[in-house]
Amino acid sequence: MRSQDSNRVVIFDTTLRDGEQSPGCSMTPPEKLRVAKALADLGVDVIEAGFPAASRGDWESVQTIAREVHGPVICGLARCNRDDIEKAHSAIKDAPRHRIHVFLATSAIHREHKLNMAKSEILRAAVEGVKLARSLVTDVEFSPEDASRTELEFLAEVVQAAIEAGATTINVPDTVGYTTPAEFAEVFGYLRRHVPGIERVTLSVHCHDDLGMAVANSLSAVAAGARQIECTINGIGERAGNCSLEEVVMALKTREGYYGLATGIHTTRLYPTSRLVSTITGMPVPRNKAIVGENAFAHESGIHQHGMLKHHSTYEIMRPQDVGLSRTHLVLGKHSGRHAFRDRVRELGYELADDELNRAFEDFKALADKKKELFDGDIEALVLRAGHEDGPWHVDALWTSATSGAAASAVVRLKHRDGRLVEQGATGDGPIDAAFKAIETATGTAVKLHSFEVRSVTEGEDAQGEAIVNVVHNERSYRGASISTNIIESSAQAFLEVINRIQSSRPGARPAHAQLSADARTVQATV
Ligand code: KIV
Ligand code: ZN
Repeated sequence: MRSQDSNRVVIFDTTLRDGEQSPGCSMTPPEKLRVAKALADLGVDVIEAGFPAASRGDWESVQTIAREVHGPVICGLARCNRDDIEKAHSAIKDAPRHRIHVFLATSAIHREHKLNMAKSEILRAAVEGVKLARSLVTDVEFSPEDASRTELEFLAEVVQAAIEAGATTINVPDTVGYTTPAEFAEVFGYLRRHVPGIERVTLSVHCHDDLGMAVANSLSAVAAGARQIECTINGIGERAGNCSLEEVVMALKTREGYYGLATGIHTTRLYPTSRLVSTITGMPVPRNKAIVGENAFAHESGIHQHGMLKHHSTYEIMRPQDVGLSRTHLVLGKHSGRHAFRDRVRELGYELADDELNRAFEDFKALADKKKELFDGDIEALVLRAGHEDGPWHVDALWTSATSGAAASAVVRLKHRDGRLVEQGATGDGPIDAAFKAIETATGTAVKLHSFEVRSVTEGEDAQGEAIVNVVHNERSYRGASISTNIIESSAQAFLEVINRIQSSRPGARPAHAQLSADARTVQATV
């Protein structure tokens, strides 16, 4: 059967490559692994794990994912040159099923201004890239970058040459989010009519959301014969983002009667996966975001509520449970036991390893001492932080004072993993600013604060506040987040997480699990 006639759409997730590429969304290697495992549980067919030639760190995390994540095809991106393709191959080759994705821009704008290459040179480089990749693996995807702004005849010529060179998937990217649904359907129709052999390959679509049409354009492409959709969780990605996985998957499922297409996604895992990616990247999901936004299933107006009470289908086209949103008003408190906690964690769609569950339960008990009632949002926040990496520094104690009209002050006592205790005071424009300055001096790491926000995780006066801090250090962005019922504490912890990330990413930094022997410990105090 021709792949274009199959009713199965391949979901190719690029959260860890195109998503991670977007400003402020970078992830550490352990975070990438955690996301990749969640994507495998979600049922995606292909994980684009990264761009191995971009840096040693990218190569290593693609290799780790290839070795440790089972189920999906693991894919690595490469430009059409030997070094990129060989690096991609060495990073992915240990995955039982792996793919190399080579790309080269084809539009006149890119040919002239970016690549300075003639059409004939583009054709040659694309063919050589695909052939080299194909000599290393059997599964090769080719993308003519900026396809939607490429002359149709030339696009067809490049696609035909890539297929003849051995590409097994042809991806058509709307790199700058420029196309429209009807126009994009014509591009797919044109390629299907004019490229001999196109029926032998899987046609794929890759859309950006600059005009807010990434999902619509992707759906239009599948209606016109594409059978792979490239997308990201929460639609994160370059500029306005990529096609949102949860939206496109739920559109195909909810309108199955219209499209007649299916995916292999376990849709009840959509919400927990969205929360995980949002927590890890620090990129909040807008309240009104389709499928996974807080308001996506909230009915406020009287007329809608009345209709819903009569029958949910009056105003609801999907059930919240279908996407894994199993919110209740059931609260847990300090007398709730481990079993009740574990059951609630599972009902919320999270599966924790025993040690993670133990750690989350300890945090739960500590929180229940401070907060009367724990809501689903509180439990979720604990769970999402349970897999969090520990940095070298911890806040051992924090004192702040602030009086209106006077400078605020803070003293922090930090503990380093190697046993050092450092105490440092500072004044600032408010207690949080003072705490940040004290931490900078205590750790000897100066940063430029880029953004800082605090938001409440649940309702109620004693709600926890989540602090998110973004800084720039040596021209690189770092992000930290933390949660507490005390927002000064969560802010200081989020800031310290940033410092930990900076120090852990320095060349020669010890891996997180490394410990110094007890006799090598020193205690240093500076007040
Ligand atoms: O947007 C784009 O063109 C890409 C390619 C690498 C597929 O991300
Ligand atoms: Zn892209």
